[in-house]
Amino acid sequence: MCGIIGYIGKKRAAPILFDSLKKLEYRGYDSVGIASINGDAEIEIKKGAGRIEAVNERMNFLSVNGSIGIGHTRWATHGGVEDKNAHPFLSCNGRFALVHNGILENYLELKEDLVKKGHTFTSDTDTEILVHLVEEEVKNNGEKDLVKIISDLTKIAKGAYTFLLLDAKDHIIYAFRKDSPIIIGIGEDELFASSDITSFLEHTNKVIILENNQLAVLKEKYTIYDTQTGKEVKQKITTIDWTTEQASKTGFPHFMLKEIFEEVEISKHSLEQDSLKLNGMIEVLSKAKKVFFLGSGTSFRACLLASIYFAKIAKKHFMPILGSEYKTYQNLVDKDTVIFAISQSGETADVLQGITLAKAKGARVVSLINVIGSTIMRESDQYLTLNSGPEIAVASTKAFISQVLILTLLAFGVADRLKEGREHLYEVVRKLESIMNQSDSIAMLSKDVLNKNDLYLIGRGVSFPIAMEGELKIKEIAYIHADALAGGELKHHTLALIEPGVTCIALVPNDDTKDDMINNIMQIKARGGEIIGISSEHLELFDHYIPIPKVHLEPLLMIPVLQLISYYLSVIRGNDPDFPRNLAKSVTVL
Ligand code: M6R
Repeated sequence: MCGIIGYIGKKRAAPILFDSLKKLEYRGYDSVGIASINGDAEIEIKKGAGRIEAVNERMNFLSVNGSIGIGHTRWATHGGVEDKNAHPFLSCNGRFALVHNGILENYLELKEDLVKKGHTFTSDTDTEILVHLVEEEVKNNGEKDLVKIISDLTKIAKGAYTFLLLDAKDHIIYAFRKDSPIIIGIGEDELFASSDITSFLEHTNKVIILENNQLAVLKEKYTIYDTQTGKEVKQKITTIDWTTEQASKTGFPHFMLKEIFEEVEISKHSLEQDSLKLNGMIEVLSKAKKVFFLGSGTSFRACLLASIYFAKIAKKHFMPILGSEYKTYQNLVDKDTVIFAISQSGETADVLQGITLAKAKGARVVSLINVIGSTIMRESDQYLTLNSGPEIAVASTKAFISQVLILTLLAFGVADRLKEGREHLYEVVRKLESIMNQSDSIAMLSKDVLNKNDLYLIGRGVSFPIAMEGELKIKEIAYIHADALAGGELKHHTLALIEPGVTCIALVPNDDTKDDMINNIMQIKARGGEIIGISSEHLELFDHYIPIPKVHLEPLLMIPVLQLISYYLSVIRGNDPDFPRNLAKSVTVL
């Protein structure tokens, strides 16, 4: 999704913006640009379609002068991936430049009106109307109060429009939040505004997270206004405990591999939940008449897994719902419902839409998020944090294992077996390193056996959503067709596809699914299929074997195995696992 960054201080803006844009790359983008006020109070813009390095080679971002500027990574929605549609956009008179994250719904009618008033447009985007609107209003209001003019925009423009506006006349950056995040970074003699803390984390970890409809005016100092009341507001400064090391590759070839290896450490932090908050969550879940898990993508796989563990461990029927399918179940939601939103970013639009609709029906919203200050966190009555540190790779890995660990802990908590749950989960955590130690052999197996055009993954019980997560990852970053199914479903359809040369990854934990899984494996082998077994026991039926340690919650140790397989398949196939094509880290559009 689009990323925005603004800088005002004593240093040259261009190198800072350039570095920050590189840190925003992980969100997914197709175009990039910067604008800065040079010495003559003129705005200079460099922008284009393509990756940052490639656009920089054409445009030379670093040649832009000035110590105040804004930058943008674009993820196309309105208008093709072309140079002209890259942000920032300039007003006709050259006084203002603007970058935007979101979608303007009524941009066509506004554009028509602005064209009639003499404005010239250079792009096909919805964004560009914003900068012309500001220019027009400034003209009509006789250069008066920009805070009032921007506040009044909310009465004219409809949709989501978090933006940064650079004013070359007064040397100010205006940062406005509507529906997607913007965070103000407060450094020594310098201020930042960005959609993402990690983009300026090396300069400061002191932040203010703007609320919806707030406007920050950044000059030497900052002032924040509530655009609904027009009044100045005081916002709390938060110190973020993420480190720059967590947000850099530290010698690993990719963020994804680094983040998989980080699971060994961060899993401990995930389980170290504040006991008041944890018990509060357990109480809400224990007392609730209805609980719906809500999540998308990998987080939905965590919801599925949780619903199985809540059934098995706590004898509770908690229903998993895809964020995008919330409306289908809207009739079931009322004031006795708890919506349990699961999201790494805390910004996923599908989930947020469900939350908004559920709140309107009086439901209580609780959540499990990674990003502190995220919209889902702020919309929740109660929340727990993953404590995974920043997750940069688009493919979610360490956040998934944290989600699964915490949700399983909650299931034990609701069953009033918290102590026992902790013991089982720490046993899993202690064994994670042994999975990482096998990464070379998993890489070899991926290269020699799994590099096929189709892969099947089978599992039962909790191993089924884990197989589904493996399928998702293999598709997402290796671009290989993969199909996960519950072992029992084989005979209902997919057995028709099994023939010599077909490869199946079988998840065979030492639990109540083992015997049935062995049956399924025999069905596959009888038709010539090849089996890669992930298990704590080396069964003769396996053509290839990936060992995992014997623990009580064995399926959980299969998660990093499948993550490593998808990672190596991606690399072997020449893909960039950190930036899968067409996908973004945080999906803030519906
Ligand atoms: O930030 P969220 O957990 O809400 O994100 C949900 C999905 O977009 C995300 O899990 C996506 O499926 C991942 N890229 C998968 O690796």
